[in-house]
Amino acid sequence: MKSVQELRELRERTKAALAVRDREGGPRIVVCMGTCGIAAGARDVLRSLLEELERQGRDDVTITQTGCKGLCEREPMIEVLIPGSAPVTYGSVTPDVVKQIVDDHIIKGQVVSEYAIAIGSEGN
Ligand code: FES
Repeated sequence: MKSVQELRELRERTKAALAVRDREGGPRIVVCMGTCGIAAGARDVLRSLLEELERQGRDDVTITQTGCKGLCEREPMIEVLIPGSAPVTYGSVTPDVVKQIVDDHIIKGQVVSEYAIAIGSEGN
């Protein structure tokens, strides 16, 4: 269990990281950060996304957060939106899966079907 102080520091670090991750026009990744997402490891997923994109030199990718998506059993979840393609929601995402999604979907444009739980959404 982390102390309140540790959680505050983690929140500030995450906010600072996200502040430099608001780009226009490029790919967008939305991390579900509802309470059950966080309990399932969404913060580790967010951290590994930031690290992996930095490692790949992809500073054109926007990362944002959303809350509950109502699919607790599939958390942690992320949504990948690439301009001109249908959005893809991934479930049961771990830091290793993040690497695969960045390599295959963000870099090569290939959906990682093993972890994709929805393709497209209302209005798309
Ligand atoms: S409480 Fe929202 S997805 Fe679980």
